[in-house]
Amino acid sequence: MPLERLQKLLARAGYGSRRGAELVIAAGRVTVDGAPAVLGMRADPDTQRIEVDGEPIRIQPDDVTIVLNKPTGIVVTAVDDRGRQTVFDILRDPPPHLRYVGRLDRDTSGLLLLTTNGELAHRLTHPRYEVMKTYEATVDGIVADESLQRLRLGVMLEDGMTAPATVEQLPGMPPPTYLSVTIHEGRNRQVRRMFEAVGHHVSRLRRTRFGPIALDDLAPGASRVATPAELAKLMSLVGLAERTEV
Ligand code: URA
Repeated sequence: MPLERLQKLLARAGYGSRRGAELVIAAGRVTVDGAPAVLGMRADPDTQRIEVDGEPIRIQPDDVTIVLNKPTGIVVTAVDDRGRQTVFDILRDPPPHLRYVGRLDRDTSGLLLLTTNGELAHRLTHPRYEVMKTYEATVDGIVADESLQRLRLGVMLEDGMTAPATVEQLPGMPPPTYLSVTIHEGRNRQVRRMFEAVGHHVSRLRRTRFGPIALDDLAPGASRVATPAELAKLMSLVGLAERTEV
């Protein structure tokens, strides 16, 4: 592990926020290789002995956020009682405490976020933050302009009216019709039910974007770690702006 600021290491070891950790250092409770630590110093926890009140610190691993292109046929659940393949079965070495951020239906493919940061997962799916999700839908038949307009304004489902949505026809001669749908709600099978409400069956559904994260050319079944820039955007979207090193 490279040298890191001591207050950041202490924060990761559970000594409060970085500001709180600074107070622990300023109080003279921290030593590095037996010598009293000073504010602003850097240390390497792999090669140096860092102690608070004479006890070695234990550093928690950094959180991990993963972008997965979920194939159809895979279930978004921790354990499937019918023994079907889950998203955790197709991830290589998922870290402990990894949880999915909202669900996709078994028959829906595309971008699924997973994270070890519980607060981030909670906020990204909380209606208060209205995180935008974009889907590409293939629907049977020709969708009339009037139906597109209804979908944009909101349609009545059995669990209430849907919030306004962005719905655009994608290039291609209908039928079938290809559409892009962006919503901030996350109700069960929402996009499929929205189209059923205007008389069209969705034959294929793929999520291409979750907030600032795009699926791009990630292959079905493949996953990647979210970049620091993507993570910073996700965090600030839900009021968890990461403090950066100075
Ligand atoms: N809407 C759906 O109908 N299914 C999903 O998996 C996600 C959104």
